[in-house]
Amino acid sequence: METVERKKRIFSGIQPSGHITIGNYIGALKNWVKLQDEYDCAYCVVDMHAITVRQTPADLRKRCLDFLTQYIACGLDPQKNIMFMQSHNPAHAELAWILMCNSYMGELSRMTQFKDKTKNKQNESIGAGLFTYPVLMAADILLYGTDLVPVGIDQMQHLELARDLAIRFNNYYGETFTVPEGYLSKTGAKIMSLQEPTKKMSKSDENPKAYITITDEPDLIVKKIKSAVTDSDMCICRGEGKEGIENLMSIMGAITGKTFEEIEKEYQGKNYGVFKSDVAECVVEELRPVRERYLQLQSDKAYLEQVYKAGAEKAQLASRKILRKVYKKVGFIEK
Ligand code: TYM
Repeated sequence: METVERKKRIFSGIQPSGHITIGNYIGALKNWVKLQDEYDCAYCVVDMHAITVRQTPADLRKRCLDFLTQYIACGLDPQKNIMFMQSHNPAHAELAWILMCNSYMGELSRMTQFKDKTKNKQNESIGAGLFTYPVLMAADILLYGTDLVPVGIDQMQHLELARDLAIRFNNYYGETFTVPEGYLSKTGAKIMSLQEPTKKMSKSDENPKAYITITDEPDLIVKKIKSAVTDSDMCICRGEGKEGIENLMSIMGAITGKTFEEIEKEYQGKNYGVFKSDVAECVVEELRPVRERYLQLQSDKAYLEQVYKAGAEKAQLASRKILRKVYKKVGFIEK
């Protein structure tokens, strides 16, 4: 009998906080679009992660819809992928609880993102959600039998925890979860701030000149790249103290597919002005169709609602089996 091979499963998500930046685009979204034809993909707006820090409810609601709009504008097809809001599938929270009961305080306190976000804060004011956040992320991934997780480098430690939790659970309760692998961009797995190039580009940076959003107007993109911090050297190459130039090279490389060596060769003897103009041009051209689609889609609330409602149904269906299996394994009586 012929067996139909299951397509591999992909899961990923972005937190609806701040604005989707070119860092998120290069580190995650661009790969998501690339992978959608070959894999069974679930792409989520992780609204439950966003409330680990205080949000204004009306703003969060708007941003969740806006992020979904931007996913589609980047080229993700709701017919091909499961696209949904995390809170619309309660199985995420349910599995997170079980995994939390199988996680250790020690391993969660070693998460660098947790340490960064709570630096100089007293225990009294640190939300427990911020602490257990990586467990919810593990639940997101493990719930769908995910094989591959396309993310930027900054999420790899969280992914490692998801793998550890899957292995631990499988060892204790018997084979249940697929152990997921990360999927990184070749050159742009970590895009840096345009103003402080030793710091990661963050969508919540207070200084809007530090990042480019995927819906920024072309003129603004040019302006931000022209004012990107570089160095007083004249060489378009990598090296110590050249983080600003290297970052612009990563952006160009991720968009054009050129390697660092190719870019270095192409710009030998050319000045920063010429290089920055070319980087700006390729970013503008890459994001032009995204912005156009975004502006068209934005007002079509009925369509967007239809997408996330259908997505929620598909997500619930896709995760039901694994959650039921987990409930049984831990010893809960079946309904
Ligand atoms: P978030 O919302 O911080 O970022 C979304 C995605 O963008 C990547 N990224 C970057 N890549 C390159 N350069 C940068 N400067 C940059 N900044 C962000 C991130 O690595 C990520 O892939 N916890 C996650 C969201 C999440 C998730 C998940 C991801 C929740 N559940 C399950 C994958 C699977 C987060 O806060 O990403």
